[in-house]
Amino acid sequence: MKILTILGARPQFIKAATVSRVINEHNSFNEHMIEEIIVHTGQHYDANMSDVFFEELDIPRPDYKLSFGNLGHGAMTGRMVEKLEDIIQKEKPSLVMVYGDTNSTLAGALAASKLQIPIAHVEAGLRSFNMAMPEEINRILTDRISSYLFCPTDVATVNLKNEGFPFFTALKNDQKIFNVGDVMYDATLFYREKAMMNISLDLWSLTKNNYALCTIHRAENTDDLSRLTSILDALNEINSKLKVVLPMHPRTSKILEENGISKLSKALTIINPVSYLEMQRLEIDSSIILTDSGGVQKEAFFHGVPCVTLREETEWVETVEAGWNVLAGSCKDKILDSFENSFQKNLLKDVGVYGDGCAASNCINNLLANFK
Ligand code: UD1
Ligand code: UDP
Repeated sequence: MKILTILGARPQFIKAATVSRVINEHNSFNEHMIEEIIVHTGQHYDANMSDVFFEELDIPRPDYKLSFGNLGHGAMTGRMVEKLEDIIQKEKPSLVMVYGDTNSTLAGALAASKLQIPIAHVEAGLRSFNMAMPEEINRILTDRISSYLFCPTDVATVNLKNEGFPFFTALKNDQKIFNVGDVMYDATLFYREKAMMNISLDLWSLTKNNYALCTIHRAENTDDLSRLTSILDALNEINSKLKVVLPMHPRTSKILEENGISKLSKALTIINPVSYLEMQRLEIDSSIILTDSGGVQKEAFFHGVPCVTLREETEWVETVEAGWNVLAGSCKDKILDSFENSFQKNLLKDVGVYGDGCAASNCINNLLANFK
């Protein structure tokens, strides 16, 4: 079997690392090898948004490295599709594997579907039910044209069924839906110990449970200055009680600079984006996490850290149902209330909703079973 993996943005490197590891393990013990060709679209290109993950997580070097970052959505997706079509035609994979919900995901799926190559979508079925999110459009369209829909949760499989899945694919096969579990939970289990052993809070002069960790990058927050300002106001107020540490996404830094509002974040402890292991250590030892990231919300839950989500809705509803995550949106008072109330918890954490740490193996085993 020859898998062509298409990735391009930070969370995809982490997700794909878990599957690449399983492929390598398979190849060490089986004479029927799986060949993986990796294409990096270049959507994320700074060293601390890309290279660091390949090094730290032992992801095989990309066989193809494109450079389609820093473009508008249409140009980015369109140019990716054109180049990916060439690569797929040259490599003739058995299937194309895409992850999550970025422009790289959709471009990969579109290019493959036009060439009638089956698509495996890891993290299928997630929905925010907010069509204003570029990610929601990417997810819905990618799911619609994928043959193997690897869902991370029961909720994701139900979302697909509610939309009428399975359909027939371009190849006239039924789409196959599997709840494999969450590949990011696999990553947490695999790397948590390593983060604890290898990374020290001294790197940032921090001490355990003495800071709040925050990330902001979602377009709905960064591209709406009233929302961004309101969130930063709330963070400044929190910072007067508990140090707020913010590894800042380049999107957010650029918007603050371009609009002359960097001063709004001056009092906070702003650091550059960190590596995956560094981020896990920062998350594990934080008192609370405030974020609009999908992955970070879930990791807060995995690590048993309360989370305030700076969005109106989430795809990871299990974290909210379990009481570990509160949706605060961008309203300053709501963020402050949620922050205060998040500490009054003594909750049990059932991470079983995200699988048993074998999501990546489940993906590969299901593919092998279907490609025999
Ligand atoms: C993208 C994904 C989002 C995901 C996020 C993960 C889409 C539509 N969005 O959002 O779903 O949650 O990645 O982090 O695909 N930039 C740099 N250096 C980089 C990367 C980005 O400077 O290495 C800046 C550029 O100005 C770029 C902007 O950030 O234009 C936005 O990057 P882009 O990849 O378009 O979207 P993200 O906000 O990163
Ligand atoms: N992450 C990281 N360094 C950072 C910020 C986030 O390694 O400075 C990791 C985080 O631990 C999680 C993933 O990136 O595993 C989440 O990606 P991101 O927030 O960029 O995207 P989203 O999950 O919202 O799509």
